[in-house]
Amino acid sequence: MAQEEHAHALEGRLVRLRAWEPADYPELVEMFNDPDVMEGLTAPWPSTAEEEREWIESGRKKGDLMFVVETLADRRPVGALSIGRVEAAPRTGTLGMFVGKPFWDRGYGTDALRVACRFAFRQANLQRIELNVLTVNRRAIAAYEKVGFKVEGTRRRGEFARGTHQDAHLMGLLAEELVEEPEQ
Ligand SMILES: CC(C)(COP(=O)(O)OP(=O)(O)OC[C@H]1O[C@@H](n2cnc3c(N)ncnc32)[C@H](O)[C@@H]1OP(=O)(O)O)[C@@H](O)C(=O)NCCC(=O)NCCS
Repeated sequence: MAQEEHAHALEGRLVRLRAWEPADYPELVEMFNDPDVMEGLTAPWPSTAEEEREWIESGRKKGDLMFVVETLADRRPVGALSIGRVEAAPRTGTLGMFVGKPFWDRGYGTDALRVACRFAFRQANLQRIELNVLTVNRRAIAAYEKVGFKVEGTRRRGEFARGTHQDAHLMGLLAEELVEEPEQ
């Protein structure tokens, strides 16, 4: 099916992106608080559902894109994705995401990324999306590269994570660089 024929702008091959609902917070915060997930996010300590709700609501008020990632097959929330710090003139935004550990390596992260970037470029008129990722986070870098993100520079010892100073890549994707899935 050609991308243009997708039933919904926020639907991919495996997942859909949707708004946060009150019932999402306990489940997604538990996935977020998994040490292996927090490690990737360089989050030093766990969050409460209430802190997460405040963060989502403050993002929404600023006009950030804040999504829950849910499976198309059984509408199960499996993660979250945001594009914030949208700059009005250059039309850039900063992406952050996680998928719960039980759901890693099934293609959900890559599919969610592709849908979010396509939506940001086509529906929110962004022309560049950037992000910060630890150089040791091979799984995340693999997902970002699959949709076209390029390493633009390395922030040497730019983060402190896993109890030590860590290098982090600045990665960027321009609107015309988004790699769509090959047609089936
Ligand atoms: C990063 C993250 C969002 C990826 O989600 P996901 O659903 O597991 O991603 P996908 O399954 O779509 O893709 C992962 C790819 O990494 C590959 N991969 C896994 N481990 C790898 C490793 N050690 N080295 C290289 N590639 C690896 C997988 O094989 C897969 O590629 P494939 O589909 O071509 O086989 C998820 O792992 C996560 O939330 N991690 C913790 C939080 C985090 O790091 N967020 C990003 C912060 S920048």
